[in-house]
Amino acid sequence: MSEKTTVVIHPAKNLEGGIRLPGDKSISHRYAMLGALAEGTTRLDNFSTGKDCASTLECLRELGCRWETTRKGETLSVEIQGTGMNLSAPQNALNCGNSGSTIRMMSGILAGQPFESELIGDESLSRRPMARVMKPLAEMGASITSAEGNRPPLRIHGSKLHGIDYSMPVASAQVEACLLFAGLFAEGETVVRSAIRTRDHSELALRAFGVEVTRNLGEVRIHGGQRLRAIEGGVPGDISSAAFFLCAAALFPGSQLAIDSLGLNPTRARLLDFLVQLGVKIRVTQLEELNGELVGTVQAEGAPLKGCKISGGDTAALIDEIPILAAIAPYTSDGIEIRNAGELRVKESDRITSIVGNLRAMGAEVEEFPDGLRIPGGQTLHGASIDSFDDHRIAMAFAVAGLRAQGETQIDGAECASISFPGFFDLLESLVRR
Ligand code: S3P
Repeated sequence: MSEKTTVVIHPAKNLEGGIRLPGDKSISHRYAMLGALAEGTTRLDNFSTGKDCASTLECLRELGCRWETTRKGETLSVEIQGTGMNLSAPQNALNCGNSGSTIRMMSGILAGQPFESELIGDESLSRRPMARVMKPLAEMGASITSAEGNRPPLRIHGSKLHGIDYSMPVASAQVEACLLFAGLFAEGETVVRSAIRTRDHSELALRAFGVEVTRNLGEVRIHGGQRLRAIEGGVPGDISSAAFFLCAAALFPGSQLAIDSLGLNPTRARLLDFLVQLGVKIRVTQLEELNGELVGTVQAEGAPLKGCKISGGDTAALIDEIPILAAIAPYTSDGIEIRNAGELRVKESDRITSIVGNLRAMGAEVEEFPDGLRIPGGQTLHGASIDSFDDHRIAMAFAVAGLRAQGETQIDGAECASISFPGFFDLLESLVRR
């Protein structure tokens, strides 16, 4: 457990500068896991520096995969020696820390191994629902037990798996990754269907590693028994981390921010559409493809912000960006309403409760719904003591809200930002003009 720290945020005039961000968390998890299964050495530049991806790497080490990291300044590179689908039985429980992606994706890989394993996590992860992976994996022939209420720890007795045709009741890219990874070890074909499109990094990563995966509208298919080839390349900058800086710039007319080498996968970049809708001037240049992932430079100019409503498929596409959009909502003219966001209640914290509590602490008016919230615009907020609820995206979102509040904002439990972005507060401060 890291020591609790408090960060104080002072009001800003605007933001100015050009930055590049650490690698995307979602992509880093997938590349690390697939690199461990591949034949050959996978070399990845700009790997995520967050603790969540470190948890994935540690789990892989426990499974007999050798890897090494090199750090140059803020940039992390990883070299992973692939096991050629031959993981070994772990001697200890696999500690997934705070990472829902690690536990859900790893459970797919472990379900088809000829050994037993146990996946554990921190207090927050131990409260998160795992039925969403346990149920379909059981249909594939897996044998998994959990703590009460389908919560971690998960005990996995590896078994022979067979492909299934599964429709996800809740759209989840983590569940899709879990099932596609399990599908690699299953006999026959695995089909995963979803009525709502989520991030497609799993299929892009699998294809980059030489696996045949087919996508047809809301379904994705994979055949078991395929081999993976190591890859070399960089991980695109994390657009969910970029969201905090883009929204911070958006708050102040006169801000000029550029972020290069940023992941712009269309299933992840919905934020840019909403920023444009709010009135932010966005320019995208230097587009290129990296292992199937779209990357480019984004320039943002602050402007007076209007309002928007986020619901349905947009909410799923923006799920990690909702905390920051909610945190800037009081400063828009027409407010922001977010619906169909019940999933936020089972993230690292109950994010609806965390957002509502912190906005009210800053003096904002907010209406809470079971599946979302409505935040009226045209409000003036004051600095307050913010509780991060040990949730990285809550800590970072309210640091941004504090930039336009009156007086000082104190972020308690700020250290949790390192789950996805260890250098966040310093980088934010380096861009702020007062
Ligand atoms: C992720 C998918 C999302 C997201 C999480 C990362 C992924 O979760 O919130 O931060 O990498 O697949 P769900 O798939 O549970 O919605």
